[in-house]
Amino acid sequence: MIIRSAEFTISAVRLEQCPANGEPEIAFVGRSNVGKSSLLNKLLNRRNLARISGQPGKTQTLNFYHINNTFYLVDLPGYGYARVSKELRAKWGPMVEEYLMRRNSLIQVVQLIDVRHPPTRDDQQMFEWLHYHGRTPLVVATKADKIARGMYAKHTQQIRVNLGMQSSQLPVILTSADTGYGIQEVWDTLARKLKE
Ligand code: GTP
Ligand code: MG
Repeated sequence: MIIRSAEFTISAVRLEQCPANGEPEIAFVGRSNVGKSSLLNKLLNRRNLARISGQPGKTQTLNFYHINNTFYLVDLPGYGYARVSKELRAKWGPMVEEYLMRRNSLIQVVQLIDVRHPPTRDDQQMFEWLHYHGRTPLVVATKADKIARGMYAKHTQQIRVNLGMQSSQLPVILTSADTGYGIQEVWDTLARKLKE
């Protein structure tokens, strides 16, 4: 994918605030701190377009980035982070759910899993929930640079088993936002989806 332009469009907290031009969008979900914002920056080859933090809970709104004036990438708040206030969790849960369930222009959800650890209950629930709502996610494992190359296959297989991924045709793409590993494969897959 050649990125000719990447512009921040809006931070939305309700469906009505999302862009209304009907262009397709791809959203990134995953636990807090899994590396959603980092992956987005790496895909776009920008250092600081999406805000990144060592502290989980950094992204708290639906953040839209307009790419090549033709589609959007959407950075979502992470799930499974207990330390954000109850009030906030009560708000973003329904917000993200409503977005994932009802957004018509959403053509692909990318679910991120930290490759170092087996998927958590939250990850499993999100994966099942997405399936149930007809949003088969593209599974992307993050932080490949944190494990040895010799462990790639084992950890990727672990993710498949723990998520109960049925079809061996569905990929788990391993990536690193640090080294760029796997980024091309993610783009190839998303570009195919955008062409459908
Ligand atoms: P929330 O917005 O809180 O939901 O988190 P997020 O999923 O957007 O994570 P973010 O991109 O902010 O990254 C969290 C931390 O993980 C940061 O310290 C990043 O530098 C680090 N990180 C993300 N991706 C990678 C990666 O591929 N390799 C390494 N080594 N660190 C990464
Ligand atoms: Mg983030």
